[in-house]
Amino acid sequence: MKDYLATIVKNEQIAENIYEITFDVGEEVNVRAGQFGEISVGGTHLLRRPIAICKVEKNLVTYCYQLKGAGTRELATMGAGTRLNVLMPLGNGFFVEENEPKIALVAGGVGIFPIISVLREYAGKKQISAYVGFRNKGAVCGLDEFKKADKFVAVTDDGSFGEKMNSVQAFVADLKNGNRPDVVLACGPTPMLRALKKVVEEENLNCYVSLEERMGCGLGACVVCVCALTNGKNARVCKDGPVFNALDVVL
Ligand SMILES: Cc1cc2nc3c(=O)[nH]c(=O)nc-3n(C[C@H](O)[C@H](O)[C@H](O)COP(=O)(O)OP(=O)(O)OC[C@H]3O[C@@H](n4cnc5c(N)ncnc54)[C@H](O)[C@@H]3O)c2cc1C
Ligand code: FES
Repeated sequence: MKDYLATIVKNEQIAENIYEITFDVGEEVNVRAGQFGEISVGGTHLLRRPIAICKVEKNLVTYCYQLKGAGTRELATMGAGTRLNVLMPLGNGFFVEENEPKIALVAGGVGIFPIISVLREYAGKKQISAYVGFRNKGAVCGLDEFKKADKFVAVTDDGSFGEKMNSVQAFVADLKNGNRPDVVLACGPTPMLRALKKVVEEENLNCYVSLEERMGCGLGACVVCVCALTNGKNARVCKDGPVFNALDVVL
């Protein structure tokens, strides 16, 4: 992990309220799928913003972010050549065992971006089925990436692109058709992950989820980002996660 003074190469809108930003960090970086960076957006914003690392090509690192509050809105105004501090790679990331040849990826909302990094790491090495949910047609992005999956199902909340359902429902429909994975990797809003956890518990499936919590340091020191574990203890999402076994976390 290193604090890079990274130069923005491009920063453009790719869907409704979604931007893709690519940094040149000046050297080749080694990143595991599901790890994230803490981006300093400057100005009056002291806390950095945690964003999943979506793509890495040599010294170019790409993140995709949704406009949410003041920090991401400020980030969207920054053009090529602007230099920002980016602390990365952070967190544990996803890991797929050798004896898990079939992966199901289940993603919703901004959860699709860390899942794209999994796809880029494992496409061609594992048999991948991806179930991806968007709010509506305007929010659809990343299709070129998801086409790398052996099977790809895109759905929307309002049925304006693909069927009207969420990504967990799409996953369950395929599961009922006999497409049973060795491991499920997921990221998305907490209600989505909660629904998925119920399914994997009932079906006795191995499942890892990437969590989102508000963060401070991103390094395990400030304890802003704790989540509750099912064993009664707490864990730091930034350092012990963001990826956890679905059965280990309270959702
Ligand atoms: C590990 C991880 C990976 C993430 N990956 C992505 C991604 O790939 N794309 C994306 O669009 N978003 C992602 N998020 C959510 C993203 O961090 C927030 O949307 C963003 O920080 C909002 O900042 P803001 O200044 O626009 O919003 P504000 O609401 O103004 O932020 C105020 C403060 O709250 C924090 N905050 C607000 N919402 C969140 C949140 N949901 N999670 C964590 N901190 C939050 C901000 O970092 C900031 O410190 C991720 C979050 C985590 C924890
Ligand atoms: S953000 Fe500081 S401990 Fe996790």
